[in-house]
Amino acid sequence: MQGIFITLEGPDGSGKTTVIQLLEERLKNQGRNVVVTREPGGIDIAEQIRRVILDPKNTAMEPRTEALLYAASRRQHLIEKVKPAIEQGAIVLCDRFVDSSLVYQGVGRKIGIEEVYDMNMFAIEGIFPTKTIFFDIPYEVGLQRIDKSDRIVDRLDMESNDFHHLVYQGYMTICDKYSDRIEKIDASKSIEEVCQQAMDIIEKYL
Ligand code: TYD
Repeated sequence: MQGIFITLEGPDGSGKTTVIQLLEERLKNQGRNVVVTREPGGIDIAEQIRRVILDPKNTAMEPRTEALLYAASRRQHLIEKVKPAIEQGAIVLCDRFVDSSLVYQGVGRKIGIEEVYDMNMFAIEGIFPTKTIFFDIPYEVGLQRIDKSDRIVDRLDMESNDFHHLVYQGYMTICDKYSDRIEKIDASKSIEEVCQQAMDIIEKYL
């Protein structure tokens, strides 16, 4: 039985990481086979790449180098973890996937959505999520949440407001472009409400 592949996307501080844990708990309580993972990361080599890309000390990384590091770690993560889990019938919940590259590197870093898409084709072999849930929240609100939390601030969080604004606009562009696949939820609500909106979407595929 083929599983399902759900990705969570949204600006920094939009609550994906908290909500994905609640979703895991709820789905496991229903007795389902759930695999929760994240990008960049999810497997050892990709977690190591994550530390390099997100290290605030690596200030001068060239945008295409950054995009390729994300794509390379995505490739390995997909082959080692995501694909086998889907083939075994699991519900795979992934915190960020290729859309993050289209938006952060394509729009935020100004490489262009098309070019970043092409760079990623080798990485994902045409495997797109069954459904992508977009956590819609003004980027300023997301950044304020990060400021107030005890989470370690990474290199991308530290980018200018202009960058985060571009990222948000990028998300609006791909929400339109992939309107069949990407569904928006209101991430400014309470964690419980956000979790419920995400569950309502996932349950349609169970
Ligand atoms: P994330 O794990 O969501 O960070 P956090 O849980 O700390 O909010 O993502 C890390 C950062 O990496 C985030 O700022 C977005 C960025 N990113 C890209 O720029 N391109 C990508 O392809 C991916 C997967 C993430």
